[in-house]
Amino acid sequence: MNFIDPSVQIDESVVIGHFSVVEKGAKIGKNVLIGNRVTIHEDTIIGDNTSIADGAVVGKPPKPAKTSTVKLTGDVPPLEIGEGVTIGANAVLYRGAVIGANTLIADLASVRENVKIGEYVIVGRGVCVENYVEIGNRTKIQSNSYITAYTTLEEQVFIAPCVTTTNDNFMGRTEERFDKIKGAIVKRGARVGGASIILPGITVEEETFVAAGALVTKNTEPKTVIKGVPAKVSKMVDERELLK
Ligand SMILES: CC(C)(COP(=O)(O)OP(=O)(O)OC[C@H]1O[C@@H](n2cnc3c(N)ncnc32)[C@H](O)[C@@H]1OP(=O)(O)O)[C@@H](O)C(=O)NCCC(=O)NCCS
Repeated sequence: MNFIDPSVQIDESVVIGHFSVVEKGAKIGKNVLIGNRVTIHEDTIIGDNTSIADGAVVGKPPKPAKTSTVKLTGDVPPLEIGEGVTIGANAVLYRGAVIGANTLIADLASVRENVKIGEYVIVGRGVCVENYVEIGNRTKIQSNSYITAYTTLEEQVFIAPCVTTTNDNFMGRTEERFDKIKGAIVKRGARVGGASIILPGITVEEETFVAAGALVTKNTEPKTVIKGVPAKVSKMVDERELLK
């Protein structure tokens, strides 16, 4: 038994499990698979051949706390999910996100409003992507990493498990912080090792290799391996590992 609002545009090839809800104005393409207990909120657009696993919530209207530092401004457009996307069980995707074709959003991941994710991206299990984040094509983010608001991950970036990005050196105090909040920019082909921390506003240059457990306090140089707390250059990345 499912509830599908009569205004929903849904192709006859779509397969839906049990106890799912599709709210008004949603548009669902061909051969989409929708599991059990899925909620598809108002106006969500879902491309052909996409699958949405059990318990996922897509197009959730954002409702930040009254005391949140990042404010919601203006209307948030509907969630757009491209073709061939896989959404894992119990993932939560907010209204105002755009997900490119053939991307995987794994189980339990969360993707906030005003986020743009490219094609063939992997957002791993339990990853949290906060608002105003951009993620380029073929980037991979492994389990339980935290991508804070205003972060940019360019194309073919690799983020290992449990990486922490940050954006606020004032940690929620002073009015001054509102002008100074800045996420990291991780450039094309950079790799960031397990459990490392990137401080606010840092640029990790193309093909930098950040070693596991590093604390990145300064902008990096391209193609360098950096490690330690604070991170220092240890050597150049082996030519064989560089992207073509
Ligand atoms: C950078 C890395 C590849 C090791 O590089 P390496 O230069 O070959 O390191 P070595 O094993 O030769 O060790 C050289 C020295 O650096 C130290 N070292 C190694 N890795 C280190 C790290 N991540 N941070 C700080 N010091 C490190 C070693 O203890 C050694 O010190 P010593 O000379 O005093 O004994 C490894 O630390 C790393 O970060 N791997 C990535 C793992 C990861 O996050 N994968 C993601 C997918 S699961």
